[in-house]
Amino acid sequence: MFSVPLGDDAELRPLEVWHAEEFAAHLDRAREHIRPWVGASFVTDDLDGARATLRRYAERRAEDSAGLHGIWLDGTLVGGVMFVEFHAALGVCELGCWLEPAAEGHGLVTRGCHTLLDWAFTVRGMHRAEWRCRSDNERSAAVARRLGMTREGVQRQSWPSGGVRHDKELWAVLAPEWRAARASAG
Ligand SMILES: CC(C)(COP(=O)(O)OP(=O)(O)OC[C@H]1O[C@@H](n2cnc3c(N)ncnc32)[C@H](O)[C@@H]1OP(=O)(O)O)[C@@H](O)C(=O)NCCC(=O)NCCS
Repeated sequence: MFSVPLGDDAELRPLEVWHAEEFAAHLDRAREHIRPWVGASFVTDDLDGARATLRRYAERRAEDSAGLHGIWLDGTLVGGVMFVEFHAALGVCELGCWLEPAAEGHGLVTRGCHTLLDWAFTVRGMHRAEWRCRSDNERSAAVARRLGMTREGVQRQSWPSGGVRHDKELWAVLAPEWRAARASAG
C-alpha cells in the first residue's frame, strides 16, 4: 500500500482492517489521552472494538464518505488523521486527528492534515474543509490555525463529556484560501 513520508522517520498510510492488532496496541497507549477530546465511539477497549472502528471506516471509505489514515513513527503506529466526513457532491469535508502522548510536539498531525487537504482540494475538487473541536482543546485549535483555518463560530454546550456540556468550535479553510497560502509559501 502507498505511504507518504512526513519527515522525521514518520509516514502516513491508509489505516485498514488488517491493522487491527497494531491499532488496538496503539489505543492502549493513547486511550486516556484522547478520551476527553474525540468521539466516544472511537475510544474502544479491546481488539474487537478496534477492529470494529477500522471496519466502519473501511465501509465508509468504500462509500467515499470518510477515510482513516495512520501515522507511523519509526515503524510504530502513533496516531492518525482522517476525513470524519467527506461529501463529494457538496464539496465539503471534515478532518479529525489524534496522537498518543509520546508523538505530540513534532508537527506530525499538521503535516498529515496538510497532505489530506492538498488531496481534497487539488485531486477531489473539494471547496471547504472543516474542523470541530472542544473549545478548551488548545492543541487541536492550534493545528487548525496552523493549517490556515478560520474560527467560524462556537456551538454552545453541544459536546457532552464526563457529565459536563462543553462548547464546540467550528474552524474551516476554503479552496481559494488554501491555494493562495500554497502559492505564497512557494
Ligand atoms: C490534537 C493533537 C493531535 C495535536 O498534537 P500536536 O503534537 O500538538 O500537533 P502536531 O503533530 O501538529 O505538532 C505540533 C507541535 O509540534 C511542533 N512542531 C515541530 N515541528 C513542526 C512542524 N514541522 N510543523 C508543525 N509543527 C511542528 C509545533 O511547534 C507544535 O508544538 P507546540 O504545541 O509545543 O508548539 C494532540 O494533542 C492529541 O492527540 N490530542 C488528543 C486528541 C485530540 O484532541 N484530537 C483532536 C480532536 S478535535
